[in-house]
Amino acid sequence: MKNIALFASGSGSNAENIIKYFENHPEIRVDSVWSNKSSAFVLQRALNLGVESHYFTRHEFIETDKLLNELQKRKIELIVLAGFLWLVPPEFVKVFPIINIHPALLPAYGGKGMYGSFVHEAVLQNKEEESGITIHMIDKEYDKGANLLQARCPVFPDDSVDTLAARIHELEYEYFPKAIEDYLCPKTK
Ligand code: GAR
Repeated sequence: MKNIALFASGSGSNAENIIKYFENHPEIRVDSVWSNKSSAFVLQRALNLGVESHYFTRHEFIETDKLLNELQKRKIELIVLAGFLWLVPPEFVKVFPIINIHPALLPAYGGKGMYGSFVHEAVLQNKEEESGITIHMIDKEYDKGANLLQARCPVFPDDSVDTLAARIHELEYEYFPKAIEDYLCPKTK
């Protein structure tokens, strides 16, 4: 079995979708969920689905090896950032492959401060006709690193942040688990 660790900071609807997708998977299992926010709903979602969930502090994440060691002990093969809002320290990037999802078509609407509804607000403000998602590998900078996949959706003139976010979430639910699966179990063509 290939073990995944999910990192999330908020609601965790992507984390839930990924957990459900891999529930009975023959090769991939979600080992655990990790959050930098003790009140994040993702921790409850994980618990409800019978997946271990953990909270960690910035100190533990940035200044100690605690988390890194724990993930190595668990034989994690891939870290998946599913709405995780902190920059990942370089030590992690050196040890683990890390996949992130971003709710826009990078390099547009990426970088520091561009997350969740801020992204959709900016897209609407600029009257874009199209947005989408980017699933990519993480390197030492925000929203950089090789793209695995982009998927697009229209933006309508009467969209609100909520309607656009809902459309983007649908793309995320469809493509994110499959991108993880393709990464860990590439099909031979
Ligand atoms: C998702 O839309 C994800 O793309 C975004 O946060 C949302 C989390 O939703 N991630 C970022 O903005 C990262 N820069 P969820 O908690 O319901 O999965």
